[in-house]
Amino acid sequence: MESKYNLHSLSCIAFFLLLNIFQADVINARAVHPPHQHDVTKKNPQTLDYLKNLVGTRKGNTAKGLSHLKGYLSNLGYMNIDSIIAKPSPEQNNDSFDENLELAVRAYQSFFKLKVTGVLDAATVNQMMQPRCGVADNFSVLNQTHLMTESPVIAKHYTFFPGKPVWWPGKTDLTYSFPAGASYDLDEGIFEATGLWNNNSIFKFAYIKDYDKADVKISFQVWDHGDRAPFDGPGGVLAHAFAPTDGRLHFDGSEKWVDGVKDGAFDVQSVGLHELGHILGLGHSADANAVMWPTFQTKQRKGLGQDDIDGIKALYPS
Ligand SMILES: *[C@@H]1O[C@H](CO)[C@@H](O)[C@H](O)[C@H]1NC(C)=O
Ligand SMILES: *[C@@H]1O[C@H](CO)[C@@H](O)[C@H](O)[C@H]1NC(C)=O
Ligand SMILES: *[C@@H]1O[C@H](CO)[C@@H](O)[C@H](O)[C@H]1NC(C)=O
Ligand SMILES: *[C@@H]1O[C@H](CO)[C@@H](O)[C@H](O)[C@H]1NC(C)=O
Ligand SMILES: [Zn+2]
Ligand SMILES: [Zn+2]
Repeated sequence: MESKYNLHSLSCIAFFLLLNIFQADVINARAVHPPHQHDVTKKNPQTLDYLKNLVGTRKGNTAKGLSHLKGYLSNLGYMNIDSIIAKPSPEQNNDSFDENLELAVRAYQSFFKLKVTGVLDAATVNQMMQPRCGVADNFSVLNQTHLMTESPVIAKHYTFFPGKPVWWPGKTDLTYSFPAGASYDLDEGIFEATGLWNNNSIFKFAYIKDYDKADVKISFQVWDHGDRAPFDGPGGVLAHAFAPTDGRLHFDGSEKWVDGVKDGAFDVQSVGLHELGHILGLGHSADANAVMWPTFQTKQRKGLGQDDIDGIKALYPS
């Protein structure tokens, strides 16, 4: 571990020296590593494995793990949409598959274009186990009348955060930074992601060294890191970011990250592009081609889709 780390640091230094010649701005970003990378071996208490035992459960059933499922769907916005689904009170949050859970499962299936059955079938559980962004989905884009039918709602659309928060008028230059002394060797991927938004929106992201002064603060975090949205170890939640004008963008340091397309690793550029979309005010898209679609695979790179560009233009008409 120690020698591998040193070797890696060395190659980073060489890389940064090389970059320095061409792009003074970029290299000011710090060369470091996600903190606590050794934590990846830690047993994950919030593993999604419990879901496998729930395949086939439906309304009326009681099964161990259903209360966790309610927590999962609640965190993702599926159990607290006022008009149709009430958030369960603590005493209601037991292992019984009630009507609220059925509605939440239907909404989930609809967002992900699965057969809308309200039953926790294998396809639904498989989708739930996919690595994804931790920001809640917004299914207001779905036609709620359709939630009671079997066919998935044909929604192909960007969404925004509740209340549509945006950067204030005229604030189009956004600075970003990484924590001082933090190990970070993936800044080139973030630089590319900011470039894609710069080219396709009214915004201009630019790196600055002073983390405290930056509009957008990008860091690796693990497990509970003080923002009431704890990460969950390897798999599950990969990253999250806050709505305007907060500016915090967190990657889960327990994942394997790479700038590129590589077996077993997530692309920091693609996930960064997605999280920067949240920083600007975009919610999740129900269009699987959009970078704002909630899930990501390892060895996958995504750019901006037409839906992402339509979304940012709708949020900030020029
Ligand atoms: C579980 O909660 C429901 C309310 O959602 C309640 O009606 C039911 O009696 C509870 N079941 C048990 C076993 O506590
Ligand atoms: C929702 O679906 C219903 C039933 O198919 C349809 O009549 C209605 O026009 C739809 N609403 C919207 C906003 O698409
Ligand atoms: C969902 O997105 C719409 C715009 O698409 C926005 O008006 C609404 O406030 C959002 N609601 C939630 C709960 O995020
Ligand atoms: C942004 O546009 C410029 C000019 O067309 C181009 O050189 C650059 O590669 C683009 N950046 C990205 C990240 O696509
Ligand atoms: Zn997201
Ligand atoms: Zn966080």
